[in-house]
Amino acid sequence: MKKILVTGGAGYIGSHTVVELTEAGYTPIILDNFSNSEERALEGIAAILGKEVPCYRTDCTDAVALREVFEQEPGIAGVIHFAAYKAVGESVAEPLKYYSNNLGSMLTLLQVMEEYKVNKLVFSSSCTVYGIPEKLPVTEQTPVQKANSPYGNTKKICEEILTDLADSGSNMRTIALRYFNPIGAHPSARIGELPLGVPNNLVPFITQTAAGIRQELTIFGDDYDTADGTCVRDYVHVVDLAKAHVVAIERLLSGKAANIEFFNVGTGTGNTVLEAVKAFERATGKKLNYKIGPRRPGDVPKIFADVTKATVELGFKTTSTLEEAMQSAWDWQLHLEETSTKA
Ligand code: UFG
Repeated sequence: MKKILVTGGAGYIGSHTVVELTEAGYTPIILDNFSNSEERALEGIAAILGKEVPCYRTDCTDAVALREVFEQEPGIAGVIHFAAYKAVGESVAEPLKYYSNNLGSMLTLLQVMEEYKVNKLVFSSSCTVYGIPEKLPVTEQTPVQKANSPYGNTKKICEEILTDLADSGSNMRTIALRYFNPIGAHPSARIGELPLGVPNNLVPFITQTAAGIRQELTIFGDDYDTADGTCVRDYVHVVDLAKAHVVAIERLLSGKAANIEFFNVGTGTGNTVLEAVKAFERATGKKLNYKIGPRRPGDVPKIFADVTKATVELGFKTTSTLEEAMQSAWDWQLHLEETSTKA
């Protein structure tokens, strides 16, 4: 039962990964400062697994506290590092907060990992590193471009730091997973996305609109050069994405990984925003109130992944359709409503 430290393990992708790691026979240890997550994620994880997962309420930028976790948990075999701020708009307004937290937490973690001789790392990266790509789908060879937000830049800079570390002769082995658009929730509806305030992302906005919490969804622009004029994204079910972390850790632990490796994690299919809305309506039978609004500044018109590398080298595969992902997001929304009325 190998111990895997999961920073940000109470967050959206982190909580699903903790479940998948446990089901694959690992012993995850959660580390989270709960700045953008809630205790109920831990309850949901425990309900799914039938047991509690150890959790340290720790900030990853705090080296002293981080060392304490490594002292308390001897034998950590690898780390999956999710802990980071992730709101694109907020990062434009407060860039220093993003640089200091996202770079600081990774640097502190790397330093403490080195001290404790833990040298396997899975890093949460993003397709944002590709900017506005010239050719689609994007492969891992697609050039990395200037990021269009401080958030995106923190992902790009973290990848560069990890590459420099790999080139330095360090024995750190890193897999950076470049996520496309994670959506949906665990089929049990016990864990899912918990957006703070008004959601920025499409799917929580859709589910909150269908639930009557928001009046209507605004689709940001229908004059892009795409099939129906709305932006194209590669929406990947969060459980499929979580499983990508398990196979990445397996590859690191097997000793097969190079010093640093990058993998796209998406479905390989692009869908427009309107197609995503229609998929939600088909899956749930709910009619969504939406209107077309102006473009959102900074949006990439069209991006989707080539996932050949992850398929061949990691054995990664997606199993959920867009409808299934939408249905699971809706089930999670219903669970949230149910539990908040009971409270
Ligand atoms: N959208 C709407 N209305 C909304 C919300 C979103 O039309 O209310 C559209 C966006 O314009 C975009 C698509 O839905 O075309 C997806 O938007 P999201 O905000 O859900 O996701 P993004 O693709 O903008 O952002 C995601 C991650 C970021 C990451 C980025 C990389 O959330 O963390 O991909 O491209 F940086």
